[in-house]
Amino acid sequence: MKSMIVLLGPPGSGKGTQGEKLGTELGYVRLSTGDMLREAVRNGTELGKLAKTYMDSGALVPNDVIIGLMKDKINALGKVPGIIFDGFPRTVEQAEALDKELNVDLALNLDVADDILIERLTKRRSCPDCQAVYHLVYNPPKCEGKCDKCGAELYQRDDDKDATVKNRLEVYRKNTLPLVDYYTKAGKIATLNGVGDINAIFEEVKKVIQ
Ligand code: AP5
Repeated sequence: MKSMIVLLGPPGSGKGTQGEKLGTELGYVRLSTGDMLREAVRNGTELGKLAKTYMDSGALVPNDVIIGLMKDKINALGKVPGIIFDGFPRTVEQAEALDKELNVDLALNLDVADDILIERLTKRRSCPDCQAVYHLVYNPPKCEGKCDKCGAELYQRDDDKDATVKNRLEVYRKNTLPLVDYYTKAGKIATLNGVGDINAIFEEVKKVIQ
């Protein structure tokens, strides 16, 4: 099985959903920069205060901040069987920095059209405690408004409002889409259709990481 996997794809393509399954079902450690930054915002740390000024508008947090954060996380992990990178790298500079730390085996790119992404993001609900994600229509919690896994009250992310979602898609196209080229040139990319049943997509994910 591939051990170092980068999840690529636009906001709402299912990186968190599939990444969480890879963690719980196959034992990967999932490192999500978005989750780390949201936790920092909730805790009111200096990193959180800085990150919030970018995240609220859908802009990217500066490369040096993110690269430093991820280097610390990777080093603190020590030797683990596999890591899923969710939301990192997001720029070519971040990808080059990651290549200096470890050997990426695979970039798994989830392909989803914009109109579907907008519907997914604006109806997403997230758990503040265990970071599980739900969708009001496609993946609702068993008990309305409560996380299936830990029972916490679900919330809507500030950046999942209409105007911010559109900006996030533009930022993705400008800064992150070039990574498809980056990993294609490295011969490390696999693109999957990210539309369809969540478990059926996970079956496809499992096939390509073998
Ligand atoms: P981050 O948290 O990484 O957000 P993102 O990349 O925009 O991705 P999302 O979490 O929105 O979507 P996802 O692909 O994980 O989809 P999900 O599985 O939740 O980043 C947030 C912000 O932090 C950034 O804007 C930036 O400011 C900052 N940041 C983070 N990393 C950074 C970095 N490296 N550099 C600089 N800044 C950084 O699914 C979405 C919804 O769809 C859910 O409701 C889900 O239930 C539903 N769904 C999933 N799959 C399906 C399916 N197959 N069918 C139907 N519904 C589905």
